[in-house]
Amino acid sequence: MRKSSVFMIMATLSSTCYYLFVTIILSLCPITLCATVVEDLKNLHPPLDFNTTIMTNCLKNPSLRYCMGSSSMDLDEIFKFTIVASHLCNESKNPNCVESFPKIDLRNRPYIAPLYLSFGFFWKYCPLTILSIDLSNNFMKGTFPIELLHCTQIHSLDLSINELSGEIPIKGFSPLTNLTFLNLSYNCFSESELFDSQFFRRFNYSSFIHSGALLDHQRFTLKVVVLLVGFPVFVIFMVICLGWLCFHRPDILPRKLRRSSRFTPAILKAATCGFSSENLVGKSDVVHIYKGVLRDGTRVKIEMYLDDISRDGYRKFVEECKVLSELHHKNLVRVLGWCRSRTFRAIITEWTKEETVEMWLSGSSPPWNHRLKVLMGIVGCMRYLQQEWPQVDYDLNTSSLLFSDNMEPLISRFKVGDQNSNRRKICKFGVLLLEMILNKGVQAEFGGSDNGGFIRYMRSLNLADLQQMIDEKMEVTEASYYNQVKQALSLGLMCIEQSNCDQPSLAVIFNTMARAYKSNLVLPSANHRTFHGDRFKGHVLVQSR
Ligand SMILES: *[C@@H]1O[C@H](CO)[C@@H](O)[C@H](O)[C@H]1NC(C)=O
Ligand SMILES: *[C@@H]1O[C@H](CO)[C@@H](O)[C@H](O)[C@H]1NC(C)=O
Ligand SMILES: *[C@@H]1O[C@H](CO)[C@@H](O)[C@H](O)[C@H]1NC(C)=O
Ligand SMILES: *[C@@H]1O[C@H](CO)[C@@H](O)[C@H](O)[C@H]1NC(C)=O
Ligand SMILES: *[C@@H]1O[C@H](CO)[C@@H](O)[C@H](O)[C@H]1NC(C)=O
Repeated sequence: MRKSSVFMIMATLSSTCYYLFVTIILSLCPITLCATVVEDLKNLHPPLDFNTTIMTNCLKNPSLRYCMGSSSMDLDEIFKFTIVASHLCNESKNPNCVESFPKIDLRNRPYIAPLYLSFGFFWKYCPLTILSIDLSNNFMKGTFPIELLHCTQIHSLDLSINELSGEIPIKGFSPLTNLTFLNLSYNCFSESELFDSQFFRRFNYSSFIHSGALLDHQRFTLKVVVLLVGFPVFVIFMVICLGWLCFHRPDILPRKLRRSSRFTPAILKAATCGFSSENLVGKSDVVHIYKGVLRDGTRVKIEMYLDDISRDGYRKFVEECKVLSELHHKNLVRVLGWCRSRTFRAIITEWTKEETVEMWLSGSSPPWNHRLKVLMGIVGCMRYLQQEWPQVDYDLNTSSLLFSDNMEPLISRFKVGDQNSNRRKICKFGVLLLEMILNKGVQAEFGGSDNGGFIRYMRSLNLADLQQMIDEKMEVTEASYYNQVKQALSLGLMCIEQSNCDQPSLAVIFNTMARAYKSNLVLPSANHRTFHGDRFKGHVLVQSR
């Protein structure tokens, strides 16, 4: 164990030393070697009889590449060529560098290989004797060095282990009919579109290992596997995600894709920070009331019922919620939807202020015209419900009537009840009307939810008795106000009347209230006519309907 690790350390050390050595030598080499080539090219000039030397050479060996050129030969270029050729011959350790040499061997020479490659004139007259070129392992960058392909006679070309990129010039290889060995492995060529061409069949796969030019089998299978397996997995994953969203968090989906009035437990959980105790605003054995904020910023009240209801009961609950969420009136608390889970059912309504009409009456002692405005809103809402949703029953207790942000009264307790409760509804309004006018102490004596005692007591009184009990905090000093209050009192008494025929209809109540309300609005203004003519056209129309 220990021996082998010592050996490994030594091996690492010696290879490090070797690399250091090589790096130092290589970094020194280019300065000396390259300098001599470049110096020679600059300083040496063709001798005067160079013309004749070449001529004799060509006569002796007509197949020399520079003899095959055009008639006017560039003597200067040819002279430079001979200099580079002799240097390169020596670099490549060829035996006889004066006349001809068979190989260019510049492997592992990253500093001088690019220099020799850059001498275009040399490659143009590439000596016919050269049969093998090896430029492997030189970190050469750029595109394929096509100047090499001037040496059409070569048998072997090795460019492996470089960083060459771009296309392999496959057409450029066709004149190289004697080429039997090619190695382009370990480069960064781009994938060839002609990978099934003659060229690739000429050489076997080991000439192109990791060259980039051929479709890598491993990578190909990987791509196929990714496509065949990954894509279906992705689709299934997306479907599961979408399904999960639809069933748990439809509020995240675009508005068009969701049923807006059905809430899921996950939505409520998110809206209430996981049903946190800070959001719990009211609690009894079966009902928990939470305040929450939906994703779109709407503040809501969530009434959670923890009771155990039958399947039939749940169906009824949903039916009822569907009706209630259809109701739209400015004096009705908006029902946004419902929710059901294994452990609870819930009804979600808009969040309102906590202030009830009861608190408002005792707190701020509002004047008559303000009270009238509240009554007007309630009657308007009652009319809407009677006309459009007669099956909806509601509660008009001052403790259940709330206020909206702009001080509109809101009916907050309502349910789907029975169709024929008009009489009861009018009676409830009568009680409300009397409560709004009379001294707080009067109805306080008659507690209880059904107001039975209060009603019986009221029926026993006449109008004159009642006038004594008007809430003095209203300060009805003005005569017109006083008349209205008196009128309202008798209307209230008529509403709580026992027999059907004595009770006024909702239309009559509405008209009476509206008339009083309208004349109050006229009061502060001296200009009677304009007021009547323009601003209240709408109201008049509503009344005559
Ligand atoms: C080279 O010499 C030949 C005669 O030997 C002559 O015809 C030719 O013009 C000369 N070329 C140059 C470029 O001097
Ligand atoms: C050839 O290389 C050897 C060393 O390898 C060197 O001594 C000699 O001077 C070189 N010759 C030429 C002509 O560059
Ligand atoms: C290939 O080798 C043959 C025989 O040695 C020769 O005749 C032919 O010219 C060579 N082809 C090229 C393109 O150099
Ligand atoms: C590929 O060619 C080399 C030499 O050209 C040879 O040694 C090797 O066996 C060949 N491989 C295949 C798979 O044909
Ligand atoms: C090409 O070079 C690489 C790396 O040196 C080697 O693995 C591969 O066998 C060579 N191919 C041939 C055909 O010699």
